[in-house]
Amino acid sequence: MSDYQTHEHDVLVIGAGGAGLRAAIEASAAGVSVGLICKSLLGKAHTVMAEGGVAAAMANVDDRDSWKVHFSDTMRGGQYLNNWVMAEIHAKEAPDRVRELEKWGALFDRTKDGRILQRNFGGHRYPRLAHVGDRTGLEMIRTLQDYGIHQGITVYMEHTTTALLKDGERVVGAFGYDRERGRFRVFKSNAVVLATGGIGRAYKITSNSWEYTGDGQALAYYAGADLMDMEFIQFHPTGMVWPPSVRGILVTEGVRGEGGRLLNNKGERFMFNDIPDLYKNQVAKDAEEGWRYVEGDKNANRPPELLTRDHVARCINREVKAGRGSPHGGVFLDIAWIKEKVSNAPERIKKKLPSMYHQFKELAGVDITSEPMEVGPTTHYVMGGVRVDGVTQMSSVPGLFAAGEVAAGLHGANRLGGNSLSDLLVFGKRAGEHAAEFAKKYEAGTIDNAQIDVAAKKALSPFDRPTGENPYVVQHSLQEMMQDKVGIVRTEADMAAALDGLSALKKRAAAAGIDGNREYNPGWHTALDLDNLLVVSEAATRSALDRQESRGGHFREDYQEKQKDFSQHNTVIRRGPDGGMQLRREAIPPLRDDLKQVIEENK
Ligand code: FUM
Repeated sequence: MSDYQTHEHDVLVIGAGGAGLRAAIEASAAGVSVGLICKSLLGKAHTVMAEGGVAAAMANVDDRDSWKVHFSDTMRGGQYLNNWVMAEIHAKEAPDRVRELEKWGALFDRTKDGRILQRNFGGHRYPRLAHVGDRTGLEMIRTLQDYGIHQGITVYMEHTTTALLKDGERVVGAFGYDRERGRFRVFKSNAVVLATGGIGRAYKITSNSWEYTGDGQALAYYAGADLMDMEFIQFHPTGMVWPPSVRGILVTEGVRGEGGRLLNNKGERFMFNDIPDLYKNQVAKDAEEGWRYVEGDKNANRPPELLTRDHVARCINREVKAGRGSPHGGVFLDIAWIKEKVSNAPERIKKKLPSMYHQFKELAGVDITSEPMEVGPTTHYVMGGVRVDGVTQMSSVPGLFAAGEVAAGLHGANRLGGNSLSDLLVFGKRAGEHAAEFAKKYEAGTIDNAQIDVAAKKALSPFDRPTGENPYVVQHSLQEMMQDKVGIVRTEADMAAALDGLSALKKRAAAAGIDGNREYNPGWHTALDLDNLLVVSEAATRSALDRQESRGGHFREDYQEKQKDFSQHNTVIRRGPDGGMQLRREAIPPLRDDLKQVIEENK
């Protein structure tokens, strides 16, 4: 019998970024007891890496904006693979969620007449991103945290969850340990909300910090839930490339929203050379028109730097490969040039982009008010994840919900910047509400000891191999391989090699070991993360191999165009009875006629 401490809650939320906090607040408001587990310290979450703003059609800066335009932009950005039920709910509810946040204390930047200010971002037709300089995610987390801690939520900081516990088909709790002492915990709960974020740590270059190892996706997969659209991974076009120690750190799209230009080493504004058909009538014909757009001219079209992220990242990749890159393997991003247009350029840059100013000054010795930045793509976000019901956020396993980045559907093949923050507010709230409703409806489940013993044995297994390979080395090999073979540009041969590589890495992970004891043992944490990283990497690779076309965040050199045959289905992965991954293509339900018309009207 394993030794463990038991905690009981009606609703257990795993992950305490924006989605987890918002879910916990809503569940608590429904009058149920809520436990909130975070792997790190409360408030340390990838949410803060959405710097430039939260997308919501409030129409404060351009009164032509509406939920219909936001819905259409999101669907076009997602290349029509989106769960359109979610896209509709998201576009309609985002403005209320932002206003609610303001009521809870978030201090947004203001228009001259005192409304929440909104800025331009890639793929959004009108200025739509409510923001706080370039620290929007941080302000949102601060607000949710301040508000949340007064709602009677029990917070378990620095706890890792290693398994979901079931009673028959239903999820009724979770197993994990506290990272400081290494003691086991069993959480009994009528409903569980996953809000663990993404998978960025499967890649070498990423904006994600150490927590993002695909835990929620893997927990759901092992519990029998479906993973959907895992091939769609977003490489944010602009991460830092130099010095090496900061490679991958995000450079907000807000820089381009404020007029930043991308240049190659010949000084060319290369983004003008490649405009996708879907956006032909929305892109400025020259630099002058692009600048007028930034300055708020309603008759001007957007500069090409504000095309969708998938496209911008590929264009940067192409310049670098063609030898037109910057000295350290990126391209140049120049905001200093706006001094040609405005007299107070340095003050304006520091006011609009304070974090970027400090980030480059402190980390790279670059003054962005007078010099260009060097930037290149960085793994930022996974559009795929746990397949959920669009209204309730419940997965295919009863009692298991998911919200935010860990859930799939809203963003289709590619997410528009700023839609992650509105996603986590809208669907965090819904997940909390429906999890509480579910918890009230059902009797507490029974957890048999055998399940707990299996989970405990698995968690301790790395200690059985004190002379095994160092788990960090295995993780490093995985990151190198995924970056190289399942990155921005993919081919059948590379991905087939990646699958072979994953088999070998699984064996290495199973033989990896650690010494020492359970207290303060980071090697142990890494050994346990490995299994999750391998699950999400395999799901992404298998899904990407199956999709023989290029669409959104999935680009194949061997199938460079979109294919009609692949335009009507999502890729779904489930654990088979033999323990292997099974893949199926699942038809997207036909779009409702009124929504078809909305898209038509906004073409
Ligand atoms: O560039 C950014 O500020 C990131 C925003 C996002 O990922 O939504």
